[in-house]
Amino acid sequence: MDVSVERIAEKELKAKPAGKKLGFGVHFTDYMLVMSYREGAGWAAPAIKKYGAFSLDPAAMVLHYGQAIFEGLKAYRGREDRVYLFRPADNLHRMNDSAVRMCMPVIPVDEVLAAMQQLLSLERDWVPDIGGASLYIRPTMIATEAALGVRPAREYLFFIILSPVGAYYPEGFNPVKICVTDKYVRAVRGGVGNVKTAGNYAASIIAALEAQAKGYTQVLWLDAVERRYVEEIGTSNIFFLIKGELITPALSGSILPGITRDSVIKLARSWGIKVTERPITINEVIAALEDGSLAEIFASGTAAVISPVGALNYKDREYPVNGETTGPLAQRLFDELQGIQYGERRDHFGWRVPVEHAAK
Ligand code: COI
Repeated sequence: MDVSVERIAEKELKAKPAGKKLGFGVHFTDYMLVMSYREGAGWAAPAIKKYGAFSLDPAAMVLHYGQAIFEGLKAYRGREDRVYLFRPADNLHRMNDSAVRMCMPVIPVDEVLAAMQQLLSLERDWVPDIGGASLYIRPTMIATEAALGVRPAREYLFFIILSPVGAYYPEGFNPVKICVTDKYVRAVRGGVGNVKTAGNYAASIIAALEAQAKGYTQVLWLDAVERRYVEEIGTSNIFFLIKGELITPALSGSILPGITRDSVIKLARSWGIKVTERPITINEVIAALEDGSLAEIFASGTAAVISPVGALNYKDREYPVNGETTGPLAQRLFDELQGIQYGERRDHFGWRVPVEHAAK
């Protein structure tokens, strides 16, 4: 597929935000990529054009029935002006898994990857050059057909927008305080908890707000049926280091299959650490905190990277984790992942993909 590019005049380009004030997802670059789909015709060729508002019919099906899926990945600036992506094809394949569950069309992964590369080459200067910062990439698909019957839409828009970002949490990469919720649930098996669809995030906000009102950064979700088994933290997966074993909830159908989660499992195993994916109850976690056998808890995600958990609140009791400091395994994983992502460490797994310079 040929990608068309509508160039913006130099004087219309935006000023780039100052390095230290990036925040998360508040600045957007000059260009975006769009690609439309119509049943029968399939995907049209992708177009790179000026970042800006879409015009949507008020009856667009995404606004009513929520056919909306997205992904999150990042571009990192390394030494000597090199820019890298991390496992980008995995994100696009996961997007297709989401598409299948939400009755949306799958995207042609290789073509979209090539078009994304072209967008990034054009926007290379937006990749921040300060440690820990990156260019967040948000591929998204929405149902655009104007119709009110509940059925799969026949028209869709796929787009990619880019946002230079710093750390996701206000704590930066320092330990965060997490509150276990047994009042709300995130997902049920057979539902959509294992796909990246917008409604999952909408449903999570009230729990996050209530946790924040109590002084916690995010929520730890329990399973929807028994409210006993740990699922995930806010927008990321979770790991526990207990008696030298790294434990993470198994992908039961209601947990998002994180690409950072998978990277953590592979890295830790390659270091000889025993990693177990299995159901783990909140009672087991609390007991291990109480008897001192739990050494570390951390979250993993594209936005969150590796976020150590410094304290856990369960049933209004706060349990400090590892003296509220970053544990050595979380630190090692953070350093290794970032080292690979920024091109400073050897990439034994072949996860890093360079972004080429645009042809002038
Ligand atoms: C990510 O980690 O990329 C996510 O999608 C989480 C988020 C909703 C900010």
